[in-house]
Amino acid sequence: MEADAKAYDELSGPQIEEGSQFVHELNLSLGDKVLDMGCGTGHVTKYIANIVGPDGQVVGVDPDAERIKIAKEKYKGISNLQFYVGSSAIGFLYDNEPYYDVHISTNAFHWIPNDEKSIYLQKAHQCLKSGGKLAIFCAAKMPDDVRTAGYYPLTQQGCRDLFQEIGFFNDVVVDEPPYLFRFKSFAEFKQWYKASTHLDLDDEDPVFIKKFITLEDDGQVSLKGLNICITACKD
Ligand SMILES: C[S@@+](CC[C@H](N)C(=O)[O-])C[C@H]1O[C@@H](n2cnc3c(N)ncnc32)[C@H](O)[C@@H]1O
Repeated sequence: MEADAKAYDELSGPQIEEGSQFVHELNLSLGDKVLDMGCGTGHVTKYIANIVGPDGQVVGVDPDAERIKIAKEKYKGISNLQFYVGSSAIGFLYDNEPYYDVHISTNAFHWIPNDEKSIYLQKAHQCLKSGGKLAIFCAAKMPDDVRTAGYYPLTQQGCRDLFQEIGFFNDVVVDEPPYLFRFKSFAEFKQWYKASTHLDLDDEDPVFIKKFITLEDDGQVSLKGLNICITACKD
């Protein structure tokens, strides 16, 4: 886990870029209090802290203690940025009161088991102020995606159904933009895959590899897929 956390910190460029772009488009305000759920080693969390400024506050939460250790060490001394081990299941700072203006999660929602997703959303609702915003960026379930171990993406329609079922958020918008990640070599892609998922690519079904990955003539690897962007409001 420790090796994966360090490798994730070094190799997560593609996720950080798209997560930061998603955050940029949220038009956060100076002074906002923001929760970053599933913050990993804290790159995007730090990006959020820069946007909300010294009068704002950003709390990064992740169940992986090794990732939180790296985040705390890297960003110590930044007054508006704090990191804690936690999750919706374990609990997190101010999870039981309307404290945050915005609840953000980038590239983590697809790791939450489907039967826990409604608990996650209930907690997200509970910790937001009235008028607060939930913003989730994650991977979409692709047709024929045969990866199984610990990976629980939903389709765009699956997300809409989930929010309709739980009912307590308003103005729910679900988009499904495509993504394209490029890696210098297959070896680099393998390393990134292990660091991001804790899974060994050799254990995955070759159908998955053939369907989503292209080995270019120059040895580079392209990974194509769909993301999900969700924004929703609390009354
Ligand atoms: C791919 S990383 C994303 C990290 C960061 N948000 C980013 O965009 O770079 C996914 C993170 O989700 C975390 N995670 C897994 N299960 C979770 C859960 N139930 N609740 C919150 N975070 C979870 C993992 O520990 C991991 O750090």
